[in-house]
Formats: sequence, structure tokens, C-alpha cells
Amino acid sequence: MPTFRAARGTRDLLPTETPLWSRLERLADDLATRYGYRRIETPMLEQAAVFERGVGEVTDIVEKELFRITPRSEEAESWALRPEPTAGIVRAYVQHGMQTWPQPVKLAMTGPMFRYDRPQAGRYRQFWQFDIEAIGDPGPGVDAEIVELGSRFYRDAGLTGVEVLLNSIGDPVCRPAYVAELTAYYRDHAADLPAVERDRLERNVLRLLDSKDPAMTAINAAAPRITDRLCDACAEHFASVREHLDALDVPYRLEPGLVRGLDYYTRTAFEYYVAGREGQQQALGGGGRYDGLVELLGGKPTPGIGFGIGLDRLVLALQEQGARGVADPAVPTVVVVGADPADTVARLRIATELRAAGVAARAELARRKLGKQLESAARDQAHFAVILGDELTAGDVQLRDLPAGTQKVVPLADLAREVARSHAAHRHGTSEGPATGD
Ligand code: HAM
Repeated sequence: MPTFRAARGTRDLLPTETPLWSRLERLADDLATRYGYRRIETPMLEQAAVFERGVGEVTDIVEKELFRITPRSEEAESWALRPEPTAGIVRAYVQHGMQTWPQPVKLAMTGPMFRYDRPQAGRYRQFWQFDIEAIGDPGPGVDAEIVELGSRFYRDAGLTGVEVLLNSIGDPVCRPAYVAELTAYYRDHAADLPAVERDRLERNVLRLLDSKDPAMTAINAAAPRITDRLCDACAEHFASVREHLDALDVPYRLEPGLVRGLDYYTRTAFEYYVAGREGQQQALGGGGRYDGLVELLGGKPTPGIGFGIGLDRLVLALQEQGARGVADPAVPTVVVVGADPADTVARLRIATELRAAGVAARAELARRKLGKQLESAARDQAHFAVILGDELTAGDVQLRDLPAGTQKVVPLADLAREVARSHAAHRHGTSEGPATGD
């Protein structure tokens, strides 16, 4: 057993895994740009009050999962690692006066989040989210744009069978009466409620609706539904979100029990699941509208909506579906080897020149025989070996196409160009490699 290990619930991403992560981050960046969402970065820590007020005091995230940082004696403020990005992004929106920018302000961020959760597969204490926020647009068009963007992200990432679960959870006009009705309903069933749910009942009754406890299934199925109690404005908004989604051909399933675990949500709420697995499995991603959050964090009343997509769970789901791995981009195109084992200077110099010219190159720096050097080039899956021999005095090298087994003499001055030309020809499937020479 090694002396030190990564902290419980955190993981190292090794070079065997990171090519897939890089591809997902690039995809997230690319989609965000195409849809007009601009990158923002906020600190990984915030005043704890940003989350207490933003996410809500009576939520699992704040009550149980916040990584609080003990304040130093000279600092009165208490800080916490961000459990999610939305509250921090909205804090930045207010702090930097973004309400004076053209609205909506469309923002994207990808980075690590921290929750003091009980670790298990797909549930970590440090995990990654791709986050999208549109602040300053009451919808309903932008609601559909964001739901569609999330669906496309999964599809382009190569995950199949992702389903959107959709709900509206009303607003301060219609929700209070619904909450009162729901509380009365569960009180009538108090004797049948598991202890945890009975405790939650008086504190955050909506959370009972998405309880995964089997004892709750029948009680929840008969509970009053928010979608039957929406005020006219919320009902109209919800109908229009659905109309936009239909027009975009985004399939979704209405799920009246979907309430989300954060207090800031109003109206549209949605989650992404691998179809048929929402019972046993955690959500791949989720989001919704938060029309009260900007005001709650000290700004002028401003609507907003966004999503957070968990990259760890996406990677797991891709692996479960047996998705093809991503080729390792760090494979060198060229390995520079030489007949004189001791001449590492010449090998490193030529590799450096190739790198400067844009070619992925490695110099063989071990002082071993040429045969061993060539073996290591093959093990690297390099396309070419550049072999330094007697021709070097005349300014030439041997260029060997390793898969083709062909070799020719190339002047050093032409080497980068020749490698690029042959490599491109190889990748495009034409057989124009270097011709056999002497
Ligand atoms: P959330 O549902 O709390 O929403 O988290 C979004 C996603 O983050 C989850 O669906 C899941 O994929 C991933 N996730 C959450 N906790 C963990 C964990 N412990 N380990 C691994 N993955 C996890 C939010 O965070 C909202 N800020 C989303 C949002 C943005 N709403 C509006 N804008």
C-alpha cells in the first residue's frame, strides 16, 4: 500500500483517460461558442453565504455537502468550495454590473465542483461540470435552446439513448398554495413516511416528491401535481417551452415528480438520464430556470436559466455503452534515432527543429544500439523514424515509414515538409509514402 493516496472521493485522471476528457471539454467549448455562450471563470471558493442564500439553507448541498473552509482568526468571513457554479456565476453577474450589458448574458464554464458526498460510483467529492447559463431572458425560447444544447452535447459526445425529463415547478405566485396542499397531503400520510422524509416534510416538502425510497413510490404517485396547479402565466410559459422543444424535434418526457435539489428553481426544470435507467441511476445532468436568484444575491430582479452536465457521469455512461476510446494525441509522428548511440545532441537538435516546425517528435535519448532505438519507435506507434547515420555529414537523413517499411534519403532542410506531406497522405488513405530508396 502506498503511504499517500488521493483524498477520499477524489480521483487522479491519468494520461490514459485524459484524451477523452480533453475531447469532451473541447466539445463543450465548441458547442458553447456555436450557441453564443461566452466563457466565464469564477473562483473555486466563495463566501459560504453565496451558496447558503443561493442554493438554499435547507438543501442537501448546503446542509450536508458543503466543503466549508475554517476561517483564519483574522478573517470574519466563512468560505466554502463551490458545490455548483450557478450561484457563483450569478454573484459575478451582480458584482460586475452585467445587468447593464446587452441581455441576455450567455455564459459557459467547465470545471471542478466539490460536494462532501458519500463517495460511490458516479458520486465524487470532486467532480466536473459543463455549465451553461443565460441570464436576463425570461424565456420560453431560451429554455428550449438550452435543453436542446444539452441533448446535442450528449449526442455529439457519442452517448446514445439520453432522455430529457421535463417539469415546471411554478413560481412564487402559484407555488406557495401548492406547497401548502402538498404538506397537508403528506401530513395525512405521516404514519407511512420513512423517518427521513417525515423530517423533511416540515422543512422542504418538495424534496419528498423525488425521494428514491421505495416506501414513497405509492404515496408520491397519488400526491397532488404541481403541473395541475400552475398559475396561468406559468402554465402558458410551460406550454410554450414544450412547443419550442417540439419544433426543435427534441424528445422529452413530462415528469411531474421532478423538483431538483436546489432551492433557486422556478418554472422550467429538467434532467438528463440514460433512458430506462432513471430509477437506479443518478441524473447525467440537470438544470432549470431561476428567476429569483439574481435578486436573492443582491441584484435587480432578473430571470435566468441554465444547466450543469456532470462529466464524470458522462464518461462512466460512455464506458458502459462501450464507446470507442479516443486515440492518444500524444503519440509522436516521428522518433529520431541514430547509428551513434552516444550522439544524443544531434538527435535532440533534430527533434527540436521538427517540433518547431509543428511536427510531433521524440528524440531517442537513451544511449543504446540503433536496433533497440528502432524497437522503441515502433512501440511508440510512431509513423516515421528519422535515422541519423553517415549521411548526416552531407546534411541528409534516412526517413523510414515504419508501417510501410519503406525508407528514403531526405535532405535535413526538407525533412519537416517531407514528414508533413507523407503523414497527411497516409492519414487521407493515399499510398503516397516515401518511396523505397537507399
Ligand atoms: P445538479 O443537479 O446539482 O445541478 O448537478 C448537475 C450535475 O452534476 C448532476 O446531474 C451530475 O451529473 C453532476 N453531479 C452532481 N453531484 C455530483 C457528484 N457528487 N459526483 C459526480 N457528479 C455529480 C447543478 O449543479 C445546477 N447548478 C445546474 C444548473 C445550472 N441549474 C441552472 N444552471
